[in-house]
Amino acid sequence: MRFFIDTANVDEIRKANDMGVICGVTTNPSLIAKEGRDYKETIQEIATIVDGPISGEVKPTTLDYEGMIKEAREIAAIHPNMVVKIPLTADGLKACHQCAKEGIKTNLTLVFSASQALLAARAGATYVSPFIGRLDDISEDGLELIRTIADMFSVNGIDSQIICASIRSPYHVMQCALAGADIATVPYKVIMQMVHHPLTDQGIEKFQNDYKKVFG
Ligand code: E4P
Repeated sequence: MRFFIDTANVDEIRKANDMGVICGVTTNPSLIAKEGRDYKETIQEIATIVDGPISGEVKPTTLDYEGMIKEAREIAAIHPNMVVKIPLTADGLKACHQCAKEGIKTNLTLVFSASQALLAARAGATYVSPFIGRLDDISEDGLELIRTIADMFSVNGIDSQIICASIRSPYHVMQCALAGADIATVPYKVIMQMVHHPLTDQGIEKFQNDYKKVFG
C-alpha cells in the first residue's frame, strides 16, 4: 500500500515529501477552503513539490454533468499529474465515463458502499475513495467496507485503485494495508502519529545518556 497525503497545506506536503513516504496528494473543497488561497495557485504549487498523482475536486456547487466535465477538463489542464475528483452521483459517473474516454484520470469520491465502488470502477474510475472515518462516525464499520471492496475488485479483476480516505488513526492505516488497499490518503497529523513511538524516544534518550557518560 502506498501513501498519499490528504491536505492542501503546502508546508505539510513539503515535510511529508521530504521524509520520502508519500507519492501523491489528495485535496477536497474543505481542505482548499481551510488554506484560504487561490485554488489553481495552490494546486500548481503542490505540483512543484510532489511528482505524483494530485487529486483536485470539481466545485461542490457543480452537480450537473455539463458543469463537471467542463471543470474536469480545466483541472486536468493545470498539470499532467492532475487527477479529477468527482462525487459519486449519477452525473458524476457520467462525467467519470467521459473523462475515461478522454484519457483524464479520475478519483471517485464520497464512496460509502461497495456497490458505489463497483459502479465507479465500471464507469472507468482510475481511483475510488471509500471514506472510513465518516462511516465509523455513524457507528458503521469503515474498515469492513475496505475489506469488501478489496475482495470484490480482486475477485473481478478490476483495475481501479482503492484510495482509503477519511483516515483518522494509525490503526486505520495498518488495517487498510492488511485489507489489500492500493493507497491510503493520510492527514499529516496521522503520518506523524505513525512516526512517533514512546519507546523510540526513550531509546534515544538512553543511548544519549550512556554515550555521554563514557565519551562526554
Ligand atoms: C479524501 O480524499 C478526503 O479528502 C478526506 O479523506 C476526507 O476526510 P474527512 O472525513 O476527515 O474529512
